[in-house]
Amino acid sequence: MTRIFSGIQPTGTPHIGNYFGALRNWVALQEDHECVYCVVDYHAITIEVDPTALRQASRNMALDLMACGIDPQRSIMFIQSAVPEHTELAWILGCVTSYGDLTRMTQFKDKSAGRKFISAGLFTYPILQAADILLYRTQGVPVGEDQVQHLELSRRIARRFNSRFGEFFPEPDPIVGKGARIMSLADPTIKMSKSAGEAHYIGVMEDEKSIQKKIRSAVTDTGLTAGEEMSPGVATLFEILELSTEMLGDTSIVSELKADFGAGKLMYSHLKDAVFENLMAVLRPIQARRAELAASGKVDEILAQGAEKARVIARENIAKVRELAGLG
Ligand code: TYM
Repeated sequence: MTRIFSGIQPTGTPHIGNYFGALRNWVALQEDHECVYCVVDYHAITIEVDPTALRQASRNMALDLMACGIDPQRSIMFIQSAVPEHTELAWILGCVTSYGDLTRMTQFKDKSAGRKFISAGLFTYPILQAADILLYRTQGVPVGEDQVQHLELSRRIARRFNSRFGEFFPEPDPIVGKGARIMSLADPTIKMSKSAGEAHYIGVMEDEKSIQKKIRSAVTDTGLTAGEEMSPGVATLFEILELSTEMLGDTSIVSELKADFGAGKLMYSHLKDAVFENLMAVLRPIQARRAELAASGKVDEILAQGAEKARVIARENIAKVRELAGLG
């Protein structure tokens, strides 16, 4: 069975970009793959975070993942730092990673821009990401578009390890589906993210009123005449509507509103109402499940079991890596 690995940073609640771009694929892949899903707290400390808040955020993210549909009975779900083999492999892989390749990572350029203190960890972050993936000898990695460059690097790192020390790691393939790059509603020229600020994302667990407000104030345009090209803001609203209605199993409203748009008579308030209603129909059950899970108080136990299962694979693979590399 193909092994899947993916990770998410514990930075508060996931947003609908994370959900449509990655998490819903994580959930779907559980049906017929061996899945390993990780809350990447080692990655989170590449910038300054409050330790107490981080520990809580990691547990909250695990609850969010389960609410979205990750089943810890079927998939291995754990917090990255509970499996220290990730960092051991990262060191070894760092020795087969080209410095030049790291300097070309666009995420590093984006994330370091404007920072007073840029940690070496932020720069070597893609090596740790490669270690996450390769530690489980993963074949498939479901991610959004912004991670594809890191996946390319992971493949290069796997190739360089294999040619220097002997064939061991498969080259992991990115699994990128629809919704892999959801844009901000407040500024549809940038991707949806937390770091851009509160107005730029919709949280999966966000309060209904607040979601409504954000959708109502989404940037559109002053109205287009028939045949004009869709503006980025309107395209983003349509994309969220399409993804939501696909999940709900009835996309007829998308065709109706697109026809109105084509005829130059679409009222953006109708489009926004439809986006809100359908998105909430996707999110409401997730939010309800999240409340139940939080009340059950079992997350620590679930994560400890997940880490134990992950470590069995990690220990075996790191032992082989050490042997191949002549370590110990
Ligand atoms: P992170 O935590 O930023 O995001 C988690 C996942 O959500 C996707 N994503 C998006 N998809 C569509 N539209 C958006 N606006 C959007 N924003 C984020 C991301 O592509 C990602 O799939 N470095 C990774 C975490 C990581 C990882 C790994 C992923 C660490 N190790 C190993 C895969 C494999 C990150 O920061 O994702």
